[in-house]
Amino acid sequence: MRDFQDYSLLKHNSFGVDARCHRFVEYSSTDELRALLPQLRGVRWMHIGAGCNLLFTGDYDGTILHSAIRGVEVLEDAPDGTVLVRAGAGEDWDGFVGYCVGAGLYGLENLSLIPGEVGASAVQNIGAYGSEVAQRIETVHTLCAATGEVRDFAREECRYGYRTSILKEELRGQYVVTHVTYRLSRHFVPDLGYAALAREVEARGLGAGLTAARLRELVIEVRRQKLPDPAETGSAGSFFMNPVVDEATYARLAAAYPGMPFYRVAGGVKIPAGWLIEQAGWKGRSLGRARVWHRQALVLVNTGGATGEEVRRLSEAVRDDVRGRFGIDLRCEVNIL
Ligand code: EPU
Repeated sequence: MRDFQDYSLLKHNSFGVDARCHRFVEYSSTDELRALLPQLRGVRWMHIGAGCNLLFTGDYDGTILHSAIRGVEVLEDAPDGTVLVRAGAGEDWDGFVGYCVGAGLYGLENLSLIPGEVGASAVQNIGAYGSEVAQRIETVHTLCAATGEVRDFAREECRYGYRTSILKEELRGQYVVTHVTYRLSRHFVPDLGYAALAREVEARGLGAGLTAARLRELVIEVRRQKLPDPAETGSAGSFFMNPVVDEATYARLAAAYPGMPFYRVAGGVKIPAGWLIEQAGWKGRSLGRARVWHRQALVLVNTGGATGEEVRRLSEAVRDDVRGRFGIDLRCEVNIL
């Protein structure tokens, strides 16, 4: 267990904001976590993963927990090719995906190179290139923060939606994820439902010879082209969610903007927020030391030394312009604290 007072969060948030917290505790087993929970009674606390989806706009006057529970274990290797794999919440997400592909366990390739850790991936339902982690989750193993008792959530109980779950919404802060079990497969079936990815596969003539390792490489390549390199530029990936509008709103916008991209989804029509932001003239523009990424307008970056408040101000300016121009309210994907 590592336990610090008045601790800098600089290395624990991908925006690279220099905020501090009152206490920071990193535990490495379920037992250590259970022993820690009583100390949180009456104290303001929160749990973070790698901090890839957080924006600190000031210091955090409370305790921050971080999991260093590691380990990957095959629980079941069924004759039909289904494999149940359990990973510790503190495992690096992309390291885990790479391990699975290398071990012949398929189903997570499209989620390659997403920054973050296993625990948070299951709370926030990470997604990319037509895939969401919820499709592969079997069980989310947790401890109840109030009692320290084990509680396992089957996938259906997690109420997964677009970048959300019951653990992120209704039960936020009540359970701490210790491990996640995934349902993977020994048979590789590429998921090429996302048009841009299918086009890349075709452009390279990969077609029938496509392996999981090659698909993973391709996803990594495409991400690197569009998204900032976390080692160089602070960001939290997509800052906003793609809005889903009703048919009437879609029809109004489509008439005014014939080239507008859209996807029909359950409950309406999804419009890429990156497109809306670009049309509003924000792509590549800065406000103070915060900037809208020049290759993907959904991403806000820290150009160096930005405070969380500066990034938040940029996000508000972008939201105001998108609301004014399109009548659409963008919702943040990033948790602002
Ligand atoms: N677009 C623009 N301008 C931009 C960006 C996008 O016009 O600056 C338009 C393009 O027409 C493009 C469409 O938006 O065809 C979609 O863009 P892209 O494929 O880059 O995906 P996205 O919808 O902007 C989502 C996820 C990303 C994920 C990609 C790929 C959300 C909030 N974001 O972005 O996730 O990598 O799809 O699947 O759903 C993240 O969550 O942090 C993240 C990076």
